[in-house]
Order: sequence, then structure tokens, then C-alpha cells
Amino acid sequence: MTFDEARALFPVLERVAYLNAGTFGPLARPTADAIAEQLAHDVALGRSGKAYIEAMQAARAALREMIAELLATTSEHVALTSSTTDGCNIVLGGLGLRPEDEVVTTDAEHFGLAGPVFASGATVRVAQVHELGPEEALDAILAEITPRTRLLAVSHVLWTTGIVLDVHALRERTGLPVLVDGAQSVGAVPVDVGALDFYTVSGQKWLCGPESTGALYVADADALRVARPGYFAQRSFEPGGRYVPRPDAQRFEPGWVSVGALKGLATAIGLAPNWRFERIRETASYCRDALEKRVTVVTPGDQAGLVTFRPDGEPDEVAVRLLERGVVVRSLPGTPWVRASCGWWTTDEDVERLAGAL
Ligand SMILES: Cc1ncc(COP(=O)(O)O)c(C=O)c1O
Repeated sequence: MTFDEARALFPVLERVAYLNAGTFGPLARPTADAIAEQLAHDVALGRSGKAYIEAMQAARAALREMIAELLATTSEHVALTSSTTDGCNIVLGGLGLRPEDEVVTTDAEHFGLAGPVFASGATVRVAQVHELGPEEALDAILAEITPRTRLLAVSHVLWTTGIVLDVHALRERTGLPVLVDGAQSVGAVPVDVGALDFYTVSGQKWLCGPESTGALYVADADALRVARPGYFAQRSFEPGGRYVPRPDAQRFEPGWVSVGALKGLATAIGLAPNWRFERIRETASYCRDALEKRVTVVTPGDQAGLVTFRPDGEPDEVAVRLLERGVVVRSLPGTPWVRASCGWWTTDEDVERLAGAL
């Protein structure tokens, strides 16, 4: 697929410089068609019967396979969820932590991870990484570890400064279980779960899938309790309540996902060209250079798809003003910053439109 063909997949790009995949990626026409087609099928033929259930199971299995490939793992380690937040809740809820246990996280986590961490019942130690570069941030996280640490819970790519944390080094250097929030990494940078324990996926961001889709990687299903069993947790179920859980990560799946959404995400993942990571890197670098001529850029070079900067003026107002000029970015709450997301579909002209409008 050429760059022009790739770009033509996304009708929204004809109207605006869409630089907000960090919130929701642009929707491709074939993705929307796959969702609509399934919905039309359901409207005409109903949502019932053996064939329907088998097709739904097949769609789930196909999506697990595709997500496993994205994470460089195999599908028995993948549970389909509705979001990164869902995945973080499954892990933190299943570990059964108590106040004498400690979880180390950072002050730059999204509520999707921070919420479940603080609700876990453990004592939370927060590394201050807000304005640090990748290496210093790693040191700050390591400095919070004590003999009571039971889990490190951090993002692979911070949604604020856009820096990439070396999560593999955290695992290697500490030997502790690591939960990685992959909301800003999967689809934006190559991911290999390697020795990590838990890794979340958001379908609606860099993968350009529909809302309420996602996944959770679990290295060892037996090391995590199923705290909230959904229908797909059971291999067998006996009247009276006893159940045998599935042997793999499917036991953590919280529930049904609409078949249209399953097919939409599978279509979106299948559309992404093999040059996507290289292009994201190039376009983020171009964006940094273009913005640096006008404003202070927060994100260091060579990170992922996010480029955060400090505009002249109040960030919320700047984001609104940019939208009026056809540039979609987001302000970051509680900071003086605005964030641009550079995707594999982004042109230099999109970036220039942003820079020119500042
Ligand atoms: C780092 C990070 N984690 C989690 C989330 C929440 O993602 P989801 O809606 O998939 O739970 C976001 C969304 O912006 C994010 O940036």
C-alpha cells in the first residue's frame, strides 16, 4: 500500500489535520463498512442460532490471533477486553493486594491505570517522572522499589510527555511483575511483550478500531485470580455454581463484544501498512522540528507518535483555536501543554498546518 492509498482510507483527513490518535484514531472507511455490514446482517437475520454463535466465536478467535501478532506472542495469552482501563482493572483486581503490599507507579499515568492501582487495596508509591526524560524516569521508578513491592504499573509511552519507558529493563533489573499500560504504544511503536507479565491494548487509539475494544496480555494465567468471571471464563459449568476455568488468558475476558466491533477492529488492524512504525517515527520527528521553531517542545527526539509542546497561551483555548483552523489536537489537563499525535497517515502538510496555526 502506498502512502497516498493509506491516507485515502480515512475520509476525515480530507477535512482536517487530524492529530489526535492518542485519544481516538481516525476511522477508515473499510473499518466503518465492516461494522455496518455486521449490523445490517444482525438486523436482517437476528443475533441467534448456532451459526451466529460460531461466527462470533470465530471473530473473537481471529481478533485474538491478530492482537497476539501485534504483541509478538501467541493467542492463548490474549484476553479480549473493552479497553486498557478494563485490562488494568482485571490485573489489579486479580492480584488480591493488601495494604502491606506496595505497587510502584508514576505521576504521569492516565486514570485508566492510576484508577485501578489506587483501588487495588495496596499501598501506592508514586515515582515523580512528570518532566523527566526516559532514563531519569526509569531511575525514579527504580528508586521507589522496596522489599514490599509486588507490582510495577507503568505506561510504555507516557500520555503526557510522550516519552518511551524501557519497560523491559524494569522487568530485567528488578525481577518484579510488571503491568504495562500499552494505550499509547500498541500500533504506534513495535511491541514485543518479552518477559513482561501483563500488557494492555486499546483498540480505539493507534489501531484505529471502534470504541470499547481492547485486549490484555497475560504471561501466566495461573498467576492471576479471575476476580470478575465473565461468560468466557468457563470451560465447563455445573449446576450449583462450580466451574472449571479455561486454561488460557480467555478466562479473564470480561464479556461480550459486539460482533461488528470485533470485525471493525480486525479490519482496522489488517489495514495498517508494514511501513507504519517507520513513518510514525519520521512524521513525529518532522513535527518536533517544525514546532521547535515556534514553541517549546516537551517531548525529546526519537520517542513514539506523541509530540507534546508548550504553546503561548492557555492550552484549552489554544486547542479550541486550532480546531477552528482545522487542526485537531488535545490539551493535557493540569499541565501547560498541548499534544499532537502523529500517525502513519499524517502528512508533512498536516504538521505545517498545525505549526502555521500556532
Ligand atoms: C496512557 C493511557 N492509558 C489509558 C488510557 C485509557 O484508555 P482506554 O479508554 O482504552 O481505557 C489512555 C487514554 O487516553 C491513555 O492515554
